[in-house]
Amino acid sequence: MVENWNEIRHDFPALHQLVHGHPLVYLDNAATTQKPNIVLETLLHYYRHDNANVHRGIHELSNRATTAYEAARVRAVRFIHARESSEIIFTRGTTEGINLVAASWGMSHVKKGDEILLTEMEHHSNLVPWQLLAERTGAKLVFLPVTGGDEGLLDVDRLDSLLFRRVKLFAMVHISNSLGTVNPVSWLCERARKAGVVTLVDAAQSAGHLPLDVQQIGCDFLVFSGHKLCGPTGIGVLYGRQELLNEMPPYQGGGDMILSVDYAASRYKSAPHRFEAGTPDISGAIGLHAAFDYLDEVGRDRIWEHDQLLAACAHHGLKDKKGIRVFGPHAGRAGVVSFMVEGVHSHDVVTVADQKGVALRGGHHCTQPLFHKLGVESTARASFYFYNTEEDVDRLIEVIDEVQRFFS
Ligand code: ALA
Repeated sequence: MVENWNEIRHDFPALHQLVHGHPLVYLDNAATTQKPNIVLETLLHYYRHDNANVHRGIHELSNRATTAYEAARVRAVRFIHARESSEIIFTRGTTEGINLVAASWGMSHVKKGDEILLTEMEHHSNLVPWQLLAERTGAKLVFLPVTGGDEGLLDVDRLDSLLFRRVKLFAMVHISNSLGTVNPVSWLCERARKAGVVTLVDAAQSAGHLPLDVQQIGCDFLVFSGHKLCGPTGIGVLYGRQELLNEMPPYQGGGDMILSVDYAASRYKSAPHRFEAGTPDISGAIGLHAAFDYLDEVGRDRIWEHDQLLAACAHHGLKDKKGIRVFGPHAGRAGVVSFMVEGVHSHDVVTVADQKGVALRGGHHCTQPLFHKLGVESTARASFYFYNTEEDVDRLIEVIDEVQRFFS
């Protein structure tokens, strides 16, 4: 249990450096998070002592690698309250998880004239795979709108009228990466279930920030990435309800996903191995296990409180300033604050901030259609994690003062 958020920073070596002569203030956590020593040491230990391929060998190192890889799967069950390890598929990340569902479940269940429901605030990774599916099947995409104004909330009153059409699947983001909106996913999934619609939750921005329980959410699929929750890049999780996974065709073919192979045809394993063709990211899964343990020791309920506190401080500090337009909900936002500095392009904001050691992200944050709707090209974005402090927020506000002075 953490008593002091400042102390936790000692666990993250990358935070302790000068950038352009200034102490680093890392506020780009929605893009990727820094890694604690325990994750780095776990990766090194695996490669130093246990490195071997999984599921294939009967030698000691292969047994160790297989045990550790499968232990990570069991740990993922606990991290999101799945029912069993066959519901956990390791992927490269959120994007691959969504592509897997669109290609496998989508191609076998969606037909011409069917509809896929998305929200207007999806990341491109939860939009483009469905566009590809629609192109291939003749299905149509429909959207749950975002209400007018800069707050970026879902118009949930429109949901029922959209669901009771020909919607087969409803894919929704839990926390918006560009606005910090927290969507009521349990409620959305419940409404969808009543309409007989399959659901997918994009938990990329939520899995490492708050306690997550797929049974309580009631979703059919849920996806997230390891690198956004202190784990390595290149590893993520697709959760799927077992009944759905076992009736889905393989996503990719290759070694390790088959029961038997003939020249003409093959028989496939059941989930999860059916969906993990080829050598998986063994070290990634083992590193992810360490990240799960680390986060749960810190406490995701406490991380959530801390994120919200920092975001509220940044929101208040920025919205009271003249010439700043802040996007996202006024209350209850996640640790993401997107804003525009009047008369200054977001890339210039981010460049000046970088020169002062403050890492922000600028652009459309892979939500171009949402930004078109909001009538903006791009924003600067500060995104927080538990190793950020109120001093980091102060530094952000100072640096935005400097941007305004510089461009005035
Ligand atoms: N989805 C990541 C972000 O929002 C890359 O920055």
